[in-house]
Amino acid sequence: MEFIVHELYEDIGACKGKAWCGTCHGAIVQGVNHIEDMSDGELKTLQGVSTVPQSRLACQIMLEDNLDGMIFKIIGAD
Ligand code: FES
Repeated sequence: MEFIVHELYEDIGACKGKAWCGTCHGAIVQGVNHIEDMSDGELKTLQGVSTVPQSRLACQIMLEDNLDGMIFKIIGAD
């Protein structure tokens, strides 16, 4: 999420990465199998903000080598 804030959007991250606000909500376009499972907090927030399949909160995804090639579309900042 820090990469997204620095490079693309300044207006996301209202809860500062605690999975509460949903402003970093995004859809996974490619590479869904490379990300760890959701926490209960992320799942609860997504249930309130999303009807998009394969969506996640960017703040809950750690930037790691196994994400190489993944495509993620931010939709919470619209
Ligand atoms: S920054 Fe608030 S849910 Fe991700």
